[in-house]
Amino acid sequence: MPDKEKLVITGGNPLSGDVRVSGGKNTSVAVVPAALLCDEPCTIENLPDINDVAALADILRKLGASVTYEPGRFMTIDAQYVKDSHVGYRDAQKLRASYYFMGALLGRGGKFNIAYPGGCEIGSRPIDQHIKAFKALGAAVDEKGGDVAAEAKELVSGNIFFDIVTVGATINAMLAAVKAKGTTMIYNAAKEPHIVDVANFLNSMGAKIKGAGTDNIRIRGVPYLRGCTYTVIPDQIETGTFMIAGAATYGDVTIRGCIPQHMEALSAKLLEIGVRVTNSDDAIRVRSGGVHRSVNVKTQAYPGFPTDLQQPITALLTTAQGVSTVTETIFNNRFKHLDDLRRMGANIRCMGRAALIEGVPRLLGSPTTAADLRGGAALIVAGLMAHGITEIYEPEFIDRGYEHIEEKLRSLGADIKREST
Ligand code: EPU
Repeated sequence: MPDKEKLVITGGNPLSGDVRVSGGKNTSVAVVPAALLCDEPCTIENLPDINDVAALADILRKLGASVTYEPGRFMTIDAQYVKDSHVGYRDAQKLRASYYFMGALLGRGGKFNIAYPGGCEIGSRPIDQHIKAFKALGAAVDEKGGDVAAEAKELVSGNIFFDIVTVGATINAMLAAVKAKGTTMIYNAAKEPHIVDVANFLNSMGAKIKGAGTDNIRIRGVPYLRGCTYTVIPDQIETGTFMIAGAATYGDVTIRGCIPQHMEALSAKLLEIGVRVTNSDDAIRVRSGGVHRSVNVKTQAYPGFPTDLQQPITALLTTAQGVSTVTETIFNNRFKHLDDLRRMGANIRCMGRAALIEGVPRLLGSPTTAADLRGGAALIVAGLMAHGITEIYEPEFIDRGYEHIEEKLRSLGADIKREST
């Protein structure tokens, strides 16, 4: 069994300098399975070198695709001869995004048999809306023994009305509908930047998708998708995490290669806190503006404040003057990091889905454990802010979503290293 690792941070250094953001995790993990729909080889560039992307490449290979993967650079996928449509428990459990093989395999060959997806435990994560979409396109869906199986003699267009705004089901509906006969409408669609990115990837192969990024998406089915080379967009959440880390350490950090428009909700909140934020075409500079003020944060679907940045910003707010309220409306168990923040001296009370954070003068380093990806990122931010040494056990959660996180933080002056335990 390989040695377990931990991150060790000696806090207190203001971060300073430039950092380049990697390709988007949540767009990459959809675009890679989407390549199954392509009738020719295609190449995806700017994929982040993270465990989730490697896991998807493995699943593609097991399905019979030929995959050339240069981590951190590109992946070329030739799925022309894929015959299999089964993803087993062990593979599906490795990550949430294994659910994108459902839409992609259904759209490609009219069937799939896939175990329920794994992923971070941040609350109940049903897939009823995904199944609703598959049924609306003419598939018969059967759930038993922990597997979901679907089959359609012929996929037909349909009207899909989502009961809630869901990123995963919106993308899965697009994947399943892209080759279905006729015109499919998706109503109450999610509008996250990666929805638009997946649509752009499919359109660059010849799909006819309009309206991605709005509430209603229209998809005219096409019989064939040609090969393409596609570059995924930069990571919105990694960008936000560096913005928060720069602000939390009273530093001066410029995040390069990002899309500032995707960051409006966070930028507005940082300005309210008293942080200076300046945008240029593809960079954001975050600088300390003096004392941090308390604010209220409520997570919402895009363009609202992203749930994936809720945990990192709670760390920043632990030392903001006054009482902040952070309300999590998307997932029902995304506060697991709060116990560790309390261990570091934070004053936080939970009331249902809200955390009341009373600012304290400083955090003190302590041993902590990452319980999920963004909770782990919050502990990194806290460790960078804290006086003394913070250890973060189980950093593999963090590695699922952040490429070379210690190297990037070290380049900004952080004292962070990885050790075997
Ligand atoms: N939901 C349902 N039924 C469904 C689908 C979703 O009730 O069929 C509920 C969920 O339980 C949740 C809400 O709808 O309460 C929103 O879930 P959504 O489907 O939007 O989330 P997801 O597809 O499971 C993706 C990202 C998450 C990110 C959310 C929200 C991937 C692989 N995951 O999850 O990313 O938090 O969208 O933006 O893209 C992360 O990166 O750390 C992460 C968890």
